[in-house]
Amino acid sequence: MPTTNHDEPFLWTPEEPQHHPDSPLSRAFAQPLMLGLFLPLQTGGWSQSTLPRSTDWTFDYNARLTQQAEALGFDVAFGLSQWLPKGGFGGETRYRENFLDPFVSTTALAAVTSRILLLGTIHILYGPWHPMHLARFLATADHISQGRFGANIVTGYADNEPRMFGSTRAAHDKRYVQSAEFIRICNALWAGHDNLTYQGEFYSLEQAYVSPRPRYGRPVLASASGSPAGFDYAGRYSDIVFISSPAGEKLAEALPKLPAHVAAVKQAAASHGRQVRVIINPTIIVRPTREEAFAYYQAIMDHADIEAIRSFSARHAAGDSQSWLEHSARGRAVGGHLHIVGSPEDVTEQLKQLHATGVDGIQITFYDYEPELAYFGESVIPLLEQAGLRRPVLPL
Ligand SMILES: Cc1cc2nc3c(=O)[nH]c(=O)nc-3n(C[C@H](O)[C@H](O)[C@H](O)COP(=O)(O)O)c2cc1C
Repeated sequence: MPTTNHDEPFLWTPEEPQHHPDSPLSRAFAQPLMLGLFLPLQTGGWSQSTLPRSTDWTFDYNARLTQQAEALGFDVAFGLSQWLPKGGFGGETRYRENFLDPFVSTTALAAVTSRILLLGTIHILYGPWHPMHLARFLATADHISQGRFGANIVTGYADNEPRMFGSTRAAHDKRYVQSAEFIRICNALWAGHDNLTYQGEFYSLEQAYVSPRPRYGRPVLASASGSPAGFDYAGRYSDIVFISSPAGEKLAEALPKLPAHVAAVKQAAASHGRQVRVIINPTIIVRPTREEAFAYYQAIMDHADIEAIRSFSARHAAGDSQSWLEHSARGRAVGGHLHIVGSPEDVTEQLKQLHATGVDGIQITFYDYEPELAYFGESVIPLLEQAGLRRPVLPL
């Protein structure tokens, strides 16, 4: 039965997929350390370096990667979203010039997978989106994927993106207020108690209804933030919260700051009587020996695509994100929000330390995805199982 949300008694809220013991989300949440793959749906993936590699933005490549990750027991595949002018971030790599839409791509990935959760990012405030659109699109993705689809709801921090859509960027916290209204309406439609008539500050509906309704109450909802307003939004509406490192890409510097950062997100959820899981995005560089791993790490940075990094950093500086503020330019050549480098044993030890801060999962970026994902699966996952961070997953 749908339940009312006592903060907003005029709108119905659906049951949460994390409260259904047999939902795909509950299965993922049963892992001590969730494993996610940050899909390279865009040219250059996450790394601004010219060191040769096979990483490719095409759908076929991403479909193969997602199947490979699923076979290894990964819980999540995720696609980010940005809107960029001609040439992307430029440079020798033409970084992110091609960019497959993550919502469309992750929905399509549902047809070639059976177990992994699929999260696609959506900028809900760009253009004339109405909650009715998203409520039905996501309910459809939920049915296609049998409850495995999730939307990463972002408010957009870049200053040029809203202008591409013919609007200007609203103030930082105000965007979360509008997003909250949007998602509250979607929730009410997914609850499906009755036709919905509603007059809000930003959206209105009359006798509106969406059917079929999602399998486990509503689709999985995620968000990505570093600000108090973003944490409050996540605490109210998200199942999964993506955080960036509060102290740059070096793990040793991030570890002391992460417990309070993670606790703040979880506290925001607890204050609304909810629970969220927190996921961070490291780039993992693992080789048979520590020396080989660091030599490769150095080679990626030695091939930094300086022009692309400059334009990436300028775009971030012109935005108003309160996340990812401390990262170095060299770090951006490697990408991700944290760097985890070493032998399989070193990487396992670093992931243990990361998990001890309260982080529930990692969404991994690799430099050369296909071979590095395979080596991670073969060399690190068994060690994570021995360390009690992963429960073995049945073969597909
Ligand atoms: C791990 C992570 C992934 C993110 N992915 C996206 C994305 O795909 N698209 C986007 O516009 N913003 C993305 N963001 C940015 C956030 O959605 C958010 O807009 C930004 O951090 C500003 O909000 P804040 O000030 O609350 O942190 C991401 C942030 C983090 C931490």
